[in-house]
Amino acid sequence: MSIEKKENKSETYRLLLRQIDALLNPNEPLLTGFANITGALKETFPEISWVGFYFVKNNYLFLGPFQGKVACTRIKIGEGVCGTCANNKETQVVPNVHEFPGHIACDVESNSEIVIPIIFKENVYGVLDLDSKEFSAFNETDKTWLEKLAELISKKLDLTKNIID
Ligand code: SME
Repeated sequence: MSIEKKENKSETYRLLLRQIDALLNPNEPLLTGFANITGALKETFPEISWVGFYFVKNNYLFLGPFQGKVACTRIKIGEGVCGTCANNKETQVVPNVHEFPGHIACDVESNSEIVIPIIFKENVYGVLDLDSKEFSAFNETDKTWLEKLAELISKKLDLTKNIID
């Protein structure tokens, strides 16, 4: 799948979400859809060095489908950027990861990050994490559209099904 690149980032996201909507099939296993979302994001935005999902189990986030270098397999809820996002149920936009207290450096080359919670009926089921080697790679436009993506995921897929054992 290739997404037509647009000068306007919002327009790129609009097209991307339309394609992801078409890709997500509620009758297929959840991981199938999550895997394709990571591919679609990585292909669309060259500034992304790592993109992937972590899913909640007990008091931890466990690594799900991703694109990029090998990453930490588990993160305690409340720790790092991902654990903070899951704990607060709020998107974390981090222009400089070196200034984020407790940031977990999976990739030493990462300089900025955005993490979006995946929520259904006020429960957090996981997070979507995007990293970049560029500083300030993600802004309010990314936040707006990635939150729309998280909404699409929770509307289209049954998150109450067991995502990870
Ligand atoms: N930096 C994240 C850890 C996950 S990796 O970036 C893939 C964090 O601080 O939670």
